[in-house]
Formats: sequence, structure tokens, C-alpha cells
Amino acid sequence: MALQNKIDELQKKREQAFQGGGEKAMEKQNAMGKLSARSRILSIVDLDSFQEYDLFVEHEARDFDMAKKVLAGDGVITGTGTVNGMPICIYAQDFTVAGGSLGSMHAKKIVKIMDHALKMRMPLIGINDSGGARIQEGVNSLAGYGEIFFRNTLASGVIPQISVILGPCAGGAVYSPALTDYVFVVDNISKMFITGPEVIKTVLGEEISMEDLGGARVHSEITGNAHFFAYTEVECFEQIKKLLSFIPHNNLEKHRTLEAKLPKPEFKIGEIIPEDPRLPYDVRDVIKSVVDDSDFFEIQERWAGNIVIGYGRINGRTVGFVANQPLVLAGVLDVDSSNKAARFIRYCDAFNIPIVTLVDLPGYLPGVDQEHAGVIRHGAKILYAYSEATVPKISVILRKAYGGGYIAMNSRHLRADFVFAWPSAEIAVMGPEGAANIIFRKEIMEAENPDEMRRIKVKEYTEKFANPYVAASKGYVDSVIAPSETRKVVAHAIEVSGNKFIGGPSKKHGVPPF
Ligand code: HXC
Repeated sequence: MALQNKIDELQKKREQAFQGGGEKAMEKQNAMGKLSARSRILSIVDLDSFQEYDLFVEHEARDFDMAKKVLAGDGVITGTGTVNGMPICIYAQDFTVAGGSLGSMHAKKIVKIMDHALKMRMPLIGINDSGGARIQEGVNSLAGYGEIFFRNTLASGVIPQISVILGPCAGGAVYSPALTDYVFVVDNISKMFITGPEVIKTVLGEEISMEDLGGARVHSEITGNAHFFAYTEVECFEQIKKLLSFIPHNNLEKHRTLEAKLPKPEFKIGEIIPEDPRLPYDVRDVIKSVVDDSDFFEIQERWAGNIVIGYGRINGRTVGFVANQPLVLAGVLDVDSSNKAARFIRYCDAFNIPIVTLVDLPGYLPGVDQEHAGVIRHGAKILYAYSEATVPKISVILRKAYGGGYIAMNSRHLRADFVFAWPSAEIAVMGPEGAANIIFRKEIMEAENPDEMRRIKVKEYTEKFANPYVAASKGYVDSVIAPSETRKVVAHAIEVSGNKFIGGPSKKHGVPPF
């Protein structure tokens, strides 16, 4: 056969494989508002940058008439490309081919691209749209999942791993996304659960829709399993590209520095905190008044709103922000917010991203629910994460820093490199009302006018402790700064932490309160 004929034959084979599960299956996919697996990849990577591998892989299933079935690419597309000009590895399960179910060859394709990502230290993006383990392939499919989970764990802290849930992600399949760093979901499209509605109905007799069980809103608002929520797939792809523009592409990368931009003038840092210390404000306004172009990329925006986490840039360099949010539950730490912050701190630490912590909280959330939900164990995670982190760690105490909250939020005692406080800071064991009621209880009870005496004692306590100067006099606070000085002071702190190196005692690894 002349070479041209062979090339034509190749083209024909390619076109056949590009059909996926065929026209009808593709129509069904589109009718659900879902793009094809190939279009999804092409929408994420830079134009003309995608190189596919293993297009002609064939499945090895022989039972249940499987030998007769041709499954294009065995239901998954794998390859490399660039995003914002940076190389990445990517795979997308194709639901039109046997429901995107994971057979042994399908798994081998994923594992191969994962190995490449880890070897070459490139981010890995996995698009999940699958009915789970391919039932006809039995234990071989389970083995495939095991191999994927093992690699997710191996790659953790070396390369960013991104999971995009664009269809069902059912059964044990959910544990790959759960082991990765960022999970993206899309309204009405993403469905993630361990046991589906039918099993729940059979076992528990309860009726629930897939959406209410494990839809995009459930995972971004209730479980916290998802980090980014989008209304459409296209919006989701833009979020992925934006995330990749902020984070280093592996744990060895020296930081990228973009052109520095000033914050937008509408964010006036000196006017955000209300005069009355009992009134809330949106801490995201403080972040936006500090970061370049006021561009703050928030993570897990819809879950555990009492803490805010995300990325911004200062003088062109990515910084991770952890900030108590006075707008939600007065910014307290609880089970969910501790989990949210602790994981993010560990991520920043693994990928050499400096952490800026903005402090304003009355402490840990009291109550039977929290105690019984394990706030002791979960709350400890944030202490562990800050203590363990060796990236530059900078705190700015904006207002309240009471009790355990003061210690937990990157205090000097957990080895913050720099602690700054605004003049509005109140650093104390507890709030003035509670403190006065305890330490002056006798005087208040025995006074002719207990209310008046309480007022006097609260004032006395406030004047003595509700300020940053006691902590500054001990060196626990490095500088008391005006709000308008924050960006400059934080930028300087990062600049002079450039060669930070800390060693600890020799050990295999610690045992965090998982
Ligand atoms: C083989 C599967 C499959 C699977 C779907 N298909 N899931 N084939 N193994 N796990 C096939 C269907 O037979 C069908 O083939 C095609 O994919 C499309 O599926 P439909 O059911 O028609 O689609 P839809 O109505 O949209 O429903 C999607 C679904 C449903 C909700 C995902 O297919 C479903 O419930 N699947 C099973 C989900 C599940 O329980 N998975 C867990 C498996 S156990 P045809 O030929 O008709 O087009 C598991 C354990 C892993 O994953 C443990 C790892 C540790």
C-alpha cells in the first residue's frame, strides 16, 4: 500500500474512534447539557496544543458478549497539552462509550498519563463522567481503581491534581477526586455519590433524587467535597484555567512573578471595619484592598463561609489567604472551617506558596453539636497545619483575636514569621463582656447596682486588654500598623522571607489529627 493510502487509512480509523459511542449516544449526552469528552479537553487546553495517546487501545473483556463490542478508546481520552502556555496532562472519560465505565484498559490509559504527569512534574486534570467500575470486567476494574488511588496518593504534594465532575461519578470512583487537590462541579451536571438512589431506596426505603443526593450544590454547600462551583461547563473550564494561572505547576517550581498591579481604588482598606466592634464586615473586601488588581480567587466559596481561603497576588507573586469571615458566625472556627483551612494551609506549604492570615474571630464555636461532631479533633488540624508549614507565614490581626482562636490563627507561638496588628486589634483570652463577668463576678454581684458595676468593669477590661499593645509589648506582635500600610508591609515580609529554610526533628512523617 502506498504511503498515502496508509495515511488515509489512519485518518479513517481516527475518524471512527472520534465518533465515541456513536451519534445517538452523543445526542443523549448533548441533550443533558453535556459536551463530548473530546470537546471538553479541547475547551481547556490552548488552541492546537492537544496531543492524544492510546486512541487505538482495545478492551480485553470477553464475558457477557463483550468480545463483540468495539469501545472507542475504551471510553477514555488521554493526552498532554498546554494551559496558559504551561504543559499539563489530561484525561476525560467518555460517557457515550459504555457509560464511561472503567475497565482494565481504560484504567491502564489513565494510569499511564498519571505516571507521565508525575514523572514530568506536570499538573493532572481528570474529567470524570462514568458509571463506575465496568461491571462486566469484575475485579479487573476494581484493580484499575486501586492503581489510580495509589497514584493519586503518590502524586499528592508533588503535582497539582484537579478533578472535574461532569456527569456521574459513582461508587468507589469518588475516591479518586476525593484524593485530589481541587474538585470542580457544574450545576445540574455533576453527580457524586457512593451509593445511588436505587440502592438507598432498596436498603433504607428512602426516595431521593441524584441531584439531592450528590449534585453540584450538595458538594459545594453541604459536604465541602467540591472546591469550585459553576453554572455551565464553559464557566468551569475558565475557572480551571484561572486556578492554573495562580498555582505552581509542581512542588519544585520557583514562584512565577507576573507584572505587579495596584489594588482597585474602590476598595478602601481604612473604611472596611465598622466603628462598633460588634458589627460585621466582609473580610474579602480587606483581601481585595491588598491584592494586585483586587483579584481574589476564592476556593470553597459556598461552604464553611466563616473562613475564607483562596489566592491573590502581591507584587505579581501568588499568595494564599486564610481569613476569618465576621459576616458568617462572627468568623468562629468550627469543624468545617478548621478542615477547610487546614487542608489549604497544607496545600500552600507543599507548593511553596506564602500564607497570609487575616485574623478576626471570637474563638472556637461552643455547643453540644460541635463537641459531638469532634471539634477537638478537627479543630486541632488547623494548629497542626500552621505549626508544620514551613513556607513564609504572615498574620495580620484586624480585630478580635481571642483565646484558642488567637493561638490557632497562625500566632507567633505556632511559628508565624511575622505578626502585624491593626490599631483596632483586641488580643485577649476572651471578649470583654465574658471576661468581666468571670473575673469581677464577686464585685458585680455585691454591688448596689450590678449593671452599672458590670459596665465599669467591662470598660476597665477593654481599656487594659482589648488592644494590640499588650501583645506588642511582649514581642508577640511585631508591628502595629495602620490598615493603609498592610499591602506594603506584607509585600516586604514576603520579600525578606525569600530564603526561608526550617528543619525539624528527623522523622518519617507526623501523625496529623486526620
Ligand atoms: C458497565 C455501564 C455501567 C457500568 C453504565 N453503563 N454504568 N456499563 N458498567 N458500571 C452502561 C449502561 O449499561 C448503558 O449501556 C450505558 O452505560 C449508559 O448508561 P445508562 O444507564 O443508559 O445511562 P443513564 O440512564 O444516564 O444512567 C447513568 C448511571 C447508570 C446513573 C450512571 O448507568 C448507573 O446507575 N450505572 C451504575 C452506577 C453504579 O452503581 N456504579 C458503581 C459500580 S461499582 P448501553 O449499552 O445500554 O448504552 C463501583 C465500585 C468501584 O464503581 C470500587 C472502586 C474502589
